[in-house]
Amino acid sequence: MFFVFANWKMALSLPDVRKFFDDWRDILTVDADFRHRVTTAVHVSILPSFPFLPLAELALIGTQTTFGAQDCSHAASGAHTGDVSASVIRAFGGRYVLVGHSERRRYQGDGATLMAQKMTLIYDNAMTPIYCIGESLEDRHENRTLSVLGDQLDDLTAAFGRVLPPDCLIAYEPLWAIGTGLVPSPDDIKIVHNFLKNRLPNNPILYGGSVTSANSAVISAIPGVDGLLVGGASTTARSLADIIRNCCV
Ligand code: PGA
Repeated sequence: MFFVFANWKMALSLPDVRKFFDDWRDILTVDADFRHRVTTAVHVSILPSFPFLPLAELALIGTQTTFGAQDCSHAASGAHTGDVSASVIRAFGGRYVLVGHSERRRYQGDGATLMAQKMTLIYDNAMTPIYCIGESLEDRHENRTLSVLGDQLDDLTAAFGRVLPPDCLIAYEPLWAIGTGLVPSPDDIKIVHNFLKNRLPNNPILYGGSVTSANSAVISAIPGVDGLLVGGASTTARSLADIIRNCCV
């Protein structure tokens, strides 16, 4: 299965979310080809903000669409004001949790130790982590892309204390491509995904950063790209559906 994850970030209001789910159900109802695609070839998962998890749980019943969260607490439970535990995400039916998205590394300072604690709790609660890595524009200009990505894998693995389980998804998201409309060339994406596949032959590797319905055909056809992590273009049902329709799977 090819993966498509919708990282809604904090972009949607409550009416937006209700509309998304209504439209998503409509598309799946009226478009049999699309429904077939989502059932047999593309695994779609929505990552809303925490308060929308119970809505997702109800709205996605019977849609072949899973959901998860954009983060979780590094602690299992207890005195952690403002945090949400992995067990609560799981209790609402969440299946996936992002770990180390660059916006969390940047604004909340998530580091390797914290991320490894989150990974452990995600597995303890029978969910699957999506570990996000990516280079800055400066790293790329100075030809450090692969070494930076390798370090990000090594740092997490060292803190986690064991090799990453093969079901752990890796999302390659160049920092300079997130929300900018800039996308690396297919050759550059291929080089990075080859490198990551050599390091982690069994783990699915996603690409993320300015994916749209205009580029999902090309990106999804690159060898080593096992899925997409989509931000801005995943926030309406129509736009997400168009991305999935164009995927070469
Ligand atoms: P974008 O975000 O698709 O809006 O670039 C991707 C992400 O940050 O996961």
